[in-house]
Amino acid sequence: MEELVNPRHIAVILDGNGRWAKKKGVPRAIGHKEGCETLKHILDTCYYKKIEFFSVYAFSTENWKRSSGEVAALIQLMRYYLPRLEKRSMERNTKVRIIGDISGFPSDVQKIMHHLIETTSVNTGLTFIMGLNYGGRDELRRAVVKLAEKVKAGELEPENITEAMISASLDTAGIPDPDVIIRTSGEMRLSNFMTWQSAYSELEFPTVLWPDFSDDDLDEAIRIFNGRERRFGGRKGEE
Ligand code: IPE
Ligand code: IPE
Ligand code: MG
Repeated sequence: MEELVNPRHIAVILDGNGRWAKKKGVPRAIGHKEGCETLKHILDTCYYKKIEFFSVYAFSTENWKRSSGEVAALIQLMRYYLPRLEKRSMERNTKVRIIGDISGFPSDVQKIMHHLIETTSVNTGLTFIMGLNYGGRDELRRAVVKLAEKVKAGELEPENITEAMISASLDTAGIPDPDVIIRTSGEMRLSNFMTWQSAYSELEFPTVLWPDFSDDDLDEAIRIFNGRERRFGGRKGEE
C-alpha cells in the first residue's frame, strides 16, 4: 500500500452550506447547522489522524454583509457550539486558536471565545484554528498597525522590518503556513483567507458541498497533496 504523509497543516475554506440547504429545500441556517456537525466530525478525524494543525475559515469579515437573519443564525451557532468545543477539546488535548477580530462579536460571544482560547491553551496535541470575523487583509492591516506603533515608539527602524516580523505580527503567529488549503463546493478562490500565509500552499477545490464532506473526502485531499511536487521556487531535485 502507498505510504501517505500527513500535511503538517491542513486548512479548509468551509463553503457550500447555503447550496446544500437549497438542494434539500431547507432554510440556510439548517445548512450552517449541518456544516457545524460536519466540522465536529472532521475535527475528530484530524485528532485520530494526528494532524498537527487544522484550520477552518468559518466567518469572514465580508460575511456581515449577509442578511441580518443569517448573521444572527451564525452567531447563535457560535453560542451553541463553542462551549461544547471547549469541553471536547479538553478531552482531546486540543488547543483552540481563533484568528480574526474577536472584538467584532457581541460581548457574550467574545467572552465564550476568550474562555475557549484560555482554557485550551494548556493543551499540547492538535491545534485547531478557527477563522471568525477573519479577513486576510484586515489581519495584515492590524499587523501593520502593530509594527508602525513600534516604529513610532523608536523600537524599530522601518528598514529592519523582516518577513519573519510580519509573520509574527499576524493572528497566526507561531503557526506554520498551511501546506494545503481545501475549498469545498468547487469555487476556485480564496476569498480573503490567509492572504500572507498561502504563498506556497497547495490548493484543492473539491466539488463536494461542506455539509457532505466526509472522511473519504479528507483522505482523498491528503492523497492528492501527496501527489503534488512542491518546489518553493527551487529547481526540481534540489534541496
Ligand atoms: C459557507 O457556506 C459558510 C459561510 C460562509 C458562513 P455558504 O453560506 O457560503 O454557502 P453557499 O456558498 O451559499 O453555498
Ligand atoms: C468564504 O466563503 C468565507 C467562508 C467560508 C467563511 P463565501 O461564501 O463567503 O465567499 P464568496 O462570497 O463566495 O467569495
Ligand atoms: Mg459561499
